[in-house]
Amino acid sequence: MLLKSNLILLILTVAGAQPWADPVVVLPPPEYSGKVSLEEAIFKRKSVRSFRNDALTLAEISQLLWSAGGKTIDALTGPSRSHPSAGGIYPLEIYLVVGKVRGLKQGIYKYFWRDHTLQMVKSGDHRSSLAGAALKQLFIEQAPATIVLTALYRKTARVYGNRGTIRYVPMDAGHAAQNLYLQAAAMGLGTVAVGAFNDRSVKKVLALSREDPLYLLPVGKPSHD
Ligand SMILES: Cc1cc2nc3c(=O)[nH]c(=O)nc-3n(C[C@H](O)[C@H](O)[C@H](O)COP(=O)(O)O)c2cc1C
Repeated sequence: MLLKSNLILLILTVAGAQPWADPVVVLPPPEYSGKVSLEEAIFKRKSVRSFRNDALTLAEISQLLWSAGGKTIDALTGPSRSHPSAGGIYPLEIYLVVGKVRGLKQGIYKYFWRDHTLQMVKSGDHRSSLAGAALKQLFIEQAPATIVLTALYRKTARVYGNRGTIRYVPMDAGHAAQNLYLQAAAMGLGTVAVGAFNDRSVKKVLALSREDPLYLLPVGKPSHD
């Protein structure tokens, strides 16, 4: 994996790009077992809208991203992701808006699930713009990070037509978000699935062109139980 990211850096350098402007972050590997049972995580799951001002660690971010849509086992058709997906098409993309994460500069990152890496797409603290785009739901500004689920609708629509667009893609996102809710609960963290936002404004904040945002999921330590 390290070899691959070094190769990417080398190619970027030869191509005259500034690889240090958008470095690849290799995330620590996720854990595949934990101390909290699935039943306990389901029981504890709830929406959290108030976060402590504590930084998240890279290990916590790694685990949360993996739960939302990371790589699991290899199937006949290729690697599977943590959430089910109609036709195994996996139209979801994942972004991370970072305010306060130890080991990560403030910015917006794209998550590459096959390699479990992040790549910065925009630097700076964009939490307040994201909260503004989400009808001023200010807990998004308060949370140390927000995971954004987007979709390339055309991937699923190509196979399933309108049914893919209006049903399957949002269903995929629901599965991914529930994973994240349960993973956060199991780690003593909190999240809330935010669907109320202005699509165009969120697309602008994330510099999205072909993808559409589906969910914003701020994550952090709950400020009370
Ligand atoms: C599709 C969807 C959209 C949602 N959008 C928002 C939102 O924009 N803001 C928010 O605070 N909560 C949002 N929620 C969270 C719900 O308000 C929350 O799940 C509900 O109040 C039940 O509470 P619980 O999750 O703690 O069980 C959304 C949930 C879903 C499933």
